[in-house]
Amino acid sequence: MENLEQLKDQLLACVHKASNLNELEETRLQALGKKGKLTLMMKNLGQMEPEQRKTVGQELNLVKQAISEALDQQKRQLEDDDLAERLKAEQLDITLPAREQSEGRLHPLSQALDSALEIFGRMGYEVKEGPDIENDFNNFTALNIPAEHPARQEQDTFYLPPNSDGEDPMVLRTHTSPVQVRTMLDQKPPIRIIAPGRTYRSDYDATHTPMFHQIEGLVIDKDITMGHLKGCLEEFCRLFFENPNLQLRFRPAFFPFTEPSAEVDILWTNNKGQEEWLEILGCGMVHPNVLENCGIDPTENQGFAFGMGIERIAMLKYGITDLRLFFESDLRWLRHYGFHWFERA
Ligand code: PHE
Repeated sequence: MENLEQLKDQLLACVHKASNLNELEETRLQALGKKGKLTLMMKNLGQMEPEQRKTVGQELNLVKQAISEALDQQKRQLEDDDLAERLKAEQLDITLPAREQSEGRLHPLSQALDSALEIFGRMGYEVKEGPDIENDFNNFTALNIPAEHPARQEQDTFYLPPNSDGEDPMVLRTHTSPVQVRTMLDQKPPIRIIAPGRTYRSDYDATHTPMFHQIEGLVIDKDITMGHLKGCLEEFCRLFFENPNLQLRFRPAFFPFTEPSAEVDILWTNNKGQEEWLEILGCGMVHPNVLENCGIDPTENQGFAFGMGIERIAMLKYGITDLRLFFESDLRWLRHYGFHWFERA
């Protein structure tokens, strides 16, 4: 019995001394392995008198149990230490810059969109999105473009197949203006949103692709004026094109959903060194009919809206001449016009 107590202390000491998992396994084998000390003692039980066998057997079991528990505990401790050490040694600094030879590039459209959103974000605009597939009401009717209105033809709309319940067919939205409608239908003024996204028109040449991108802006409050619209767009263009002296020209225009309406041109020096006016967006004061269609009282509220082509402003800013190349995924083009993450807005 005394021997057994001694053996137990000795084995426990070995367990606690084990400084790695290999040593611990060795200790386990010494005690509980096939030829382990406790295993051999268990085998010897058979030669004892029944009385003795019973008491020694019980004692032995207790010792075995104590050693097993100590082994488990020590194992967990060693594994924890191991993990802590590895975490310390293998620490990664995820704030380090990526290697310069990294191949990925940001598409110039993403770059242009990011910087536009950043500028409008700083002016306090909130970003809204709507679906590419729109209903007739949001894309046309609510925007004061009734059925049979010639503006519907002008937009070269892609219609989805008519559905059986007799409703107007859905369309691929021809502009981001339906997000104006969606926003006004679900929130009350003051409203100040920017809505970027894909738009679609059946048109294809060097300056038109069937899918393109727009950024829509909408501001509605009690006393918003055309002056606010001008100030906001001027500020945006000067920041976006990184030219504090950029000249803008507001030209009278027509959109069914704004009154008065304007198109905005910027004075640009082309690659032959000649100055020319280039149109970049349409805008105006939101038509009272549109406010009313969206449940906003036009005698209490007024505001402005604008819609800008993202490809257009990206082409100007980055000197890209053919619109179609934006969507060809030509790696040589992407390497040339794409941006590294560290060049981001
Ligand atoms: N939706 C118009 C277009 O796609 C642009 C626009 C938006 C004009 C908002 C005025 C106000 O051409």
